[in-house]
Amino acid sequence: MTTGETTSYTGVQKLLHWLMAILVVVMVGVGLTLPRIGPGPVTNALYEIHKSIGMLVLALVLVRLAIRWRLGAPEPVPGMPAWQRWAAGTSHVLLYALMILVPIAGWAATAACCRPVNFLWTVPATLPVPADNALAKQVFQLHFAMAFVLVGLVAVHVAAALHHHFARRDDTLRRMLPGSRSSTR
Ligand code: HEM
Ligand code: HEM
Repeated sequence: MTTGETTSYTGVQKLLHWLMAILVVVMVGVGLTLPRIGPGPVTNALYEIHKSIGMLVLALVLVRLAIRWRLGAPEPVPGMPAWQRWAAGTSHVLLYALMILVPIAGWAATAACCRPVNFLWTVPATLPVPADNALAKQVFQLHFAMAFVLVGLVAVHVAAALHHHFARRDDTLRRMLPGSRSSTR
């Protein structure tokens, strides 16, 4: 949904966009490190941090979607070809979907293989799924495959944002940056 009324994202939308962009990149880095380092207290802490930030990403994306639903988003910048509008809209939907599905898969797989799941060592957060190592392995594969697609999409997304800013010199990136005003057309 676009509002057609504003020319920029609101401060909260920008804050959530950049906070979540950082969290998702950190999550991928920590996730890839986890299976490649030996057991020990640092690995355990990294697992806990990966799981907890992942659950936080899931909560934040739901908040973000609620705000998006209420406030919408600015129309694409004037003069953007139809296929680019379609590509931007579709990739945003996919990014949102993956920010929901990747953590749910990681959470469900962890609950199936390695109970209990806690948020930041303390708050119990085990999903009610059967304890089943074979199932957990398959869902972890799904978790990884979807995270891989997410990384690919983010790469295209960043390249598109930079292309708009430096090659087309339009306002696409500027209106997601701090300082741009959410004015009414
Ligand atoms: C935005 C959210 C998330 C992203 C982008 C993400 C990404 C990743 C990636 C890239 C890996 C590496 C997989 C591999 O190399 O095999 C991984 C592993 C893992 N993730 Fe996530 N993850 C997220 C959320 C979660 C959540 C919410 C949980 C659990 C509550 C979780 C639990 C795990 C575990 C336990 C592993 C290690 C699996 C193993 O040892 O093979 N992840 N994650
Ligand atoms: C350096 C990294 C990034 C840059 C430069 C960037 C840039 C942008 C820009 C300029 C927009 C607005 C597009 C428009 O108005 O048509 C946007 C929207 C969006 N970005 Fe990013 N982004 C980055 C990282 C990420 C990451 C890591 C994610 C998620 C994993 C993400 C998810 C989204 C989503 C879902 C939207 C749509 C917002 C909405 O309309 O509701 N971005 N991004």
